[in-house]
Amino acid sequence: MDPLVEAALRVRGNAHARFSNFKVGAALEDVEGCIHTGCNVENATYGLTVCAERVAVFKAISEGARKFRRMAIAADTDVLTPPCGACRQILWEFCGDVELVLTNLEGRTERHHLADLFPRPFDASFL
Ligand code: THU
Repeated sequence: MDPLVEAALRVRGNAHARFSNFKVGAALEDVEGCIHTGCNVENATYGLTVCAERVAVFKAISEGARKFRRMAIAADTDVLTPPCGACRQILWEFCGDVELVLTNLEGRTERHHLADLFPRPFDASFL
């Protein structure tokens, strides 16, 4: 199995999803080949919940990584789970048009480019 997919599936096990019980894992590969992982971390206020994808991006940025190749996203769904709108914005700003590898617990995968899921983005080029 692709090590990036394996990492997303593994970190999904750390999800703190006591309100939705919907566990997600994300694994972000940088251009050096390092893998930065994240799981969703829910909060009693609900609104302060952070998705797995954003946890992975922010961990990577705080470790000094700046250029990324791919992100794998793992959830337990038949229709493979794509990133939410807020995560698409963050991914676009920090990772550009990365490849997204969506996967489920059976290891089925689908590949998409972020630009196809997030057309006509707003970003710093407008400021
Ligand atoms: N969630 C993610 O972590 N990533 C996604 O791509 C979709 C949603 C989380 C947020 C919340 O903890 C739970 O899944 C249900 O929305």
